[in-house]
Amino acid sequence: MSKPFSQACANNQTIILDVLIPIFEYKKYALEVGSGTGQHGVFFARNMPHLSWQLSDRAQNHAGINLWVDDFPSPNLLPPILLDVLQDPWPISAYDAVYSSNTAHIMPWEAVVAMFSGIGKSLLSGGIFCLYGPMKYMGVLEAQSNVAFDTMLRQQNPCQGIREFWNINRLATQAGLELMQDNAMPANNRLIVWQKN
Ligand SMILES: C[S@@+](CC[C@H](N)C(=O)[O-])C[C@H]1O[C@@H](n2cnc3c(N)ncnc32)[C@H](O)[C@@H]1O
Repeated sequence: MSKPFSQACANNQTIILDVLIPIFEYKKYALEVGSGTGQHGVFFARNMPHLSWQLSDRAQNHAGINLWVDDFPSPNLLPPILLDVLQDPWPISAYDAVYSSNTAHIMPWEAVVAMFSGIGKSLLSGGIFCLYGPMKYMGVLEAQSNVAFDTMLRQQNPCQGIREFWNINRLATQAGLELMQDNAMPANNRLIVWQKN
């Protein structure tokens, strides 16, 4: 098997890191939900050595993630654990940081609901959740690239699609998370930050 590669991750990892560094400065244990190829986790762990970075995903992505871990090991990078957000309870708890990118528009809505519920239970008080990806505001996708992406996603799978920010933020509120930041990112993405009360 060759190592999986995401060009998007290669493009966005530095600019995401710039936002994460001050937010995660005093955090110790981060969980990544839906690590995908593993590229983000490998890069963020190397560049935030004070933070233990726990990779996770469904089973089908573990072999690829492990190839990245093997090639770029860090003492603070923890091999992937099996985490499907729909499982209840989650196999882990007590993180003070959670990161997830490009997951909310890929998972069916019931899984997005489960992701926020699980994060609400797994985060310590004062812990931070950062969610990266495209977002819709008041039913509107301003960028034509996001309109096309949303159409493609829904044609591919009607359960997928770019989510409405206020629906996402409602899930966060229900999970005990308070909105701290909504950062505009390149390529019409957002990096949204919540803190557990
Ligand atoms: C588009 S990929 C994004 C991967 C990576 N975070 C990135 O930014 O490139 C979507 C990820 O969501 C994960 N995912 C989808 N449904 C999931 C579920 N029910 N539980 C956990 N992860 C899930 C997939 O396995 C995949 O890793």
